[in-house]
Amino acid sequence: MAIKHTEIKNGVRYEVRTAGASVRLYTNGVFHSQWNPNNPLIGSLWDLFLLPVFLLSPGTDCSELKSRLARALVLGVGGGAALNQLLALHPECIIDGVDLDRVHLRLAKRYFGLGRAGVNLVCQDAELWLKSAASEPYDYVLEDLFRESDSQPGEAVRCFECDAMWLEQLFSRLRDHGLLVINFESVAQLNAACRILRKACLAESAYAFTKNGYHNAIGVFCKMPIDHKVNEREILKWAAACGMISARYSQRIRDFSVRRIRL
Ligand SMILES: C[S@@+](CC[C@H](N)C(=O)[O-])C[C@H]1O[C@@H](n2cnc3c(N)ncnc32)[C@H](O)[C@@H]1O
Repeated sequence: MAIKHTEIKNGVRYEVRTAGASVRLYTNGVFHSQWNPNNPLIGSLWDLFLLPVFLLSPGTDCSELKSRLARALVLGVGGGAALNQLLALHPECIIDGVDLDRVHLRLAKRYFGLGRAGVNLVCQDAELWLKSAASEPYDYVLEDLFRESDSQPGEAVRCFECDAMWLEQLFSRLRDHGLLVINFESVAQLNAACRILRKACLAESAYAFTKNGYHNAIGVFCKMPIDHKVNEREILKWAAACGMISARYSQRIRDFSVRRIRL
């Protein structure tokens, strides 16, 4: 692994490392992002941010899927792996990205290719942004807001508790048929959020995406019922039809699970 960039700002150490075509962002040792422009999916946890977009449109018609993925919001840009995955699938997607860390946004532009038209990066606290910024509703909202743990240096923990108010704010930015995708530290955290959703009647559909080797659980929510069949096979059929699965990483990409959660 080669170190491309090192910077210490306000006592925080930022590092961009490369391995082959892959670029990684580390902040105080916390591994925030990994992106490989040759292989948008590589069998890592980040895949689980993109694979749920299939839920927007059943079948393998990529142009139909793209038409339903016109605008996306990413809270927690980091180096921008999630934004790049969306753009690899749909280069015309308009994406707003919000991150508190100005250095992350600079590095995302310089090393992860995010200084491009159609990507609007905002340096602001996500909570403040949700309360104050005007926006049209989005088709896809990703909440991936993590910081370094106070008790375990080098470990990442969620920044915001997923309580009813936070979920309401996230849903308020979503189109009726849009998808809210949240990165939870564990299945237990995701289940707790689902109990809140049930009580508050904020969503009709919920899914858990998980992957071997990771504790995290990715929650995927929609205000409306999702009637079509959602399972690993259907999702992989779609991803293959859209050219998102390379032979090299195929086995690792396939190694994930989807579970419907009753609300
Ligand atoms: C795990 S990284 C995001 C990785 C990114 N989604 C990707 O795909 O590469 C978490 C990000 O959340 C940002 N963050 C933490 N707290 C925040 C807050 N309150 N408001 C906005 N961004 C925040 C951090 O600066 C960090 O860049």
